[in-house]
Amino acid sequence: AAADYALITLAYALGSISTAILVCRLAGLPDPRTEGSNNPGATNVLRLGGKKAAAATLAGDFLKGLLPVLIARLFTAEPATLALVAMAAFLGHLYPVFFGFRGGKGVATAFGVLLGLTWPVALAALATWLVMAKVFRISSLSALTAAALAPVYALWFSPQPALVGMLTAMAALLIWRHRSNIRNLLAGKESHIGQE
Ligand code: G3P
Repeated sequence: AAADYALITLAYALGSISTAILVCRLAGLPDPRTEGSNNPGATNVLRLGGKKAAAATLAGDFLKGLLPVLIARLFTAEPATLALVAMAAFLGHLYPVFFGFRGGKGVATAFGVLLGLTWPVALAALATWLVMAKVFRISSLSALTAAALAPVYALWFSPQPALVGMLTAMAALLIWRHRSNIRNLLAGKESHIGQE
């Protein structure tokens, strides 16, 4: 319906707001797209600007995933619509209309949409990220593990085809966006959290 398209468009527009780029501009930091890992995300902002700027980036990218899903849930409980809204916010972060379609890797935004859709799956994914980060201190490896397991957690906690299918597609895209990180991991060259 028309309302569904409006919700999906709103989600894509919100997702397209690159918190990392805006925070770095406001804080007088270098452009995260051309420094560090060249990625506009919280991990790279931590590298370039420290904890406060990274926390602001994480919060913004998380909220732009969570809010469109919560707004959509005020209007519909249809799983397919909610899955499309979630995917639209995530795609906005990866391919932002406001920033030449060159965005980030989607970790914080994926967590936001997941929390809006199904909190048990979100908490399981978060716990996975935290355990991996505690053990290995590598942001990308933590995200890759959590993303790969999220569809499995969904099969366990809320086995709806639309949700599991969307999460599988989201995990595949997230892994694709981490291909330079995967190359570095395999070469033993991936940076540790908060390190250059
Ligand atoms: O959030 C993205 C993270 O998993 C990796 O970021 O900057 O180390 O490529 P980065």
